[in-house]
Amino acid sequence: MVFSSVQAKSIDQYAVFGNPIGHSKSPQIHQSFAGQTGQQLDYRAILAPVDGFADAWQRFVDAGGRGGNVTVPFKEQAFALAQQHSERALQAGAVNTLYIDADGTLYGDNTDGIGLVADLHRLGALLADANILLLGAGGACRGVIGPLLAAGAAGICIANRTVGKAQSIAALFDDRVHACGYAEIPKQRWHLIINATSSGLTDSRPPLHEQHLEYCQLAYDMLYGKTPTPFLQWCEAQGVPQTADGLGMLVSQAAEAFYIWRGVRPEVEPVLNQLREQLNR
Ligand code: ATR
Repeated sequence: MVFSSVQAKSIDQYAVFGNPIGHSKSPQIHQSFAGQTGQQLDYRAILAPVDGFADAWQRFVDAGGRGGNVTVPFKEQAFALAQQHSERALQAGAVNTLYIDADGTLYGDNTDGIGLVADLHRLGALLADANILLLGAGGACRGVIGPLLAAGAAGICIANRTVGKAQSIAALFDDRVHACGYAEIPKQRWHLIINATSSGLTDSRPPLHEQHLEYCQLAYDMLYGKTPTPFLQWCEAQGVPQTADGLGMLVSQAAEAFYIWRGVRPEVEPVLNQLREQLNR
């Protein structure tokens, strides 16, 4: 019998972990990026038990996994598991991108905020010296503040129904970041208003008074769907010149993760167009 001395080269494995995970678009996005950039990799979705992320990750690594994305509800568990953290993961207190370096160290990063900033730039938003009103103080809020400040925002006001949650997040940053309830939002020129609440999931919108929309150039909702969220529909009806949902943020945060893993920057626009087309079908 003749044995080949050339071993079949195994394909690098990546995965997104979540619960639920069935509707994740990440496998499609990363496979499109791989095709576009000529990278050989496999990317799949893994449903981990709610209290079993660390075990699921370890099984994946034992089977040759190189890196992963982490979505709801595992971003804090991934933060706890990582041995080293990027500055933006520390600011976010959450990890959405994991990778193992050559000496076996598990690194945790967070590309959500940089993905939002990239999408805002794609939309032509001017972030330098912008006054930004950020609605909501849940998991989607904290991770985007550092990158928005780094992009030049003059100030960020976090408005939330439960004011204490907004205050706790604002306290992690310098005095460019403030917190308040919806009734106490300062009468200021808000150039950009970002909805980081989960209100769209219940077909509602945050209780924002229309007076705050007067100078708004762009209203952005981190959620996305087949139709614009109630918040975006309301902003449009009030005459805000530009509105956008979070599909571009989803593709952009994935592009940043792909760059971290592969050192190659994929193009966002073709994948975004493909996903939008599928959503509209
Ligand atoms: P997660 O951490 O997964 O984002 P969360 O902690 O429940 O989830 O946060 C959801 C955010 O959306 C919160 O800021 C929530 O406001 P409260 O903290 O006051 O509950 C906000 N939210 C959800 N539905 C809302 C609605 N209809 N109007 C305004 N804010 C809403």
